[in-house]
Amino acid sequence: MTLATVILAAGKGTRMKSALPKVLHPIAGKPMVSHVVDAARALAPQSITVVYGHGGEHVREALSAQSLNWALQAEQLGTGHAVAQAMPFVSEDVVLILYGDVPLIRPDTLREFVARANADTIALMTLNMDNPTGYGRIIRDADGQVQRIVEQKDANDAELAVDEINTGILACPRAFLAEVLPKLKSNNAQGEYYLTDVIGMAVQAGLTIDTMQPAHGWEVDGVNDRVQLARLERIYQRVQAEALMRAGVTVLDPTRLDVRGTLQCGTDIVLDINTVLIGEVTLGDRVSIGPNCVIRNARIAADTVIEANSVIDGAVIGASCHVGPFARLRPGTQLADHARIGNFVETKNARLGEGAKANHLSYLGDAEIGAHSNIGAGTITCNYDGVNKSKTVIGDNAFIGSNSALVAPVNIGAGATVGAGSVITADVPDAHLGVGRSKQRNIAGWQRPKKKD
Ligand code: UD1
Ligand code: CA
Repeated sequence: MTLATVILAAGKGTRMKSALPKVLHPIAGKPMVSHVVDAARALAPQSITVVYGHGGEHVREALSAQSLNWALQAEQLGTGHAVAQAMPFVSEDVVLILYGDVPLIRPDTLREFVARANADTIALMTLNMDNPTGYGRIIRDADGQVQRIVEQKDANDAELAVDEINTGILACPRAFLAEVLPKLKSNNAQGEYYLTDVIGMAVQAGLTIDTMQPAHGWEVDGVNDRVQLARLERIYQRVQAEALMRAGVTVLDPTRLDVRGTLQCGTDIVLDINTVLIGEVTLGDRVSIGPNCVIRNARIAADTVIEANSVIDGAVIGASCHVGPFARLRPGTQLADHARIGNFVETKNARLGEGAKANHLSYLGDAEIGAHSNIGAGTITCNYDGVNKSKTVIGDNAFIGSNSALVAPVNIGAGATVGAGSVITADVPDAHLGVGRSKQRNIAGWQRPKKKD
């Protein structure tokens, strides 16, 4: 049985009050529609078609890396009309219909759902709700067989009392869809071509309607405004935090952890409050992340401690390192095992060898620092002349005195020492002392200026 997925994403999203198309608003840093595309992909369908409309060019651009079919629905004439626009791209046996603004549907649920559909059976995702107001209602006969769906605005009082609603998610044989979509009529309360009318027509034609409910109600929650967006964001984050805790990660407060990307974790990791993990992050066993850290696209090996308020972006950090508090590691930073980066130290494109230390107030850019070297407080690599970036290379076991400016390109040899306060403009050979500062004079009998009274 071949499978096509059609994702409806043509809605205007007026209630978002945004210049950004609704389906591009992110959950966990990723556009809602991308969550849906990823869930669809997990089923390995033969095709995915996105129906786009208002602001659709932005949606296409945002998803340009994906191989998707794009069906334009120039005018929003209803969900049935939207699916009809996708049909020229669809040749598979079964069509799964998803929504770009229903982002948290899980692949496991969809797998079970799609397996129920075949040439004679439509799978229909429904939900019983305490307050079904606004949704289409599932109308069943005395034997409990689904007869049709009636929209809120077209329903009578008895129908409005039904608490089983249509989630909109549907898996339908293509042949039947292709036959009935052109027959849909818009003579209803909203003057729209309702996809939901397909159900009644299927019953007439003798097809079976097989309903299924998702494991969690939030899987079929849609987003119409930013309040609903925030609610789903929190649900998504809670689910991720719980999965991490079950996998052996201590999360000090699951309501104050945000994972916006993919996280690979060892065990006995501790994540303190307000940890934000972005992109691809890998944390080794027993890594400890202090409060208020932002970590993006980074690998951190076992037993490393990241102290409070550190920002790490594009860095590879070895085992048993110590970083922060208040450290900023920028892209291209590589720390070998046991390296230490202290407070108010910024690194970019910098490699620190095993056990190397920069404990206070430094900028290390385009630098290579040998094992066990010590970078004194206030050391700056002057790597940029306004046009070119140049490199600073420091050998093993070097000692850079406090408040030194290393004017790149420059090499400091292994075992070399730089006197505090130096401006180093020429290479320092191995094991030499480099001092580049004016000599101190002491003036005897110096009188301080006196105030007149
Ligand atoms: C629809 C269902 C309703 C169900 C509810 C669940 C129909 C007729 N009704 O109602 O039974 O309970 O969803 O949320 O299907 N869209 C397009 N093009 C259009 C119209 C809609 O792409 O011309 C997209 C929207 O972007 C949205 C989705 O389809 O993502 C649902 O459309 P919406 O108008 O919100 O349908 P509802 O009235 O909520
Ligand atoms: Ca809706």
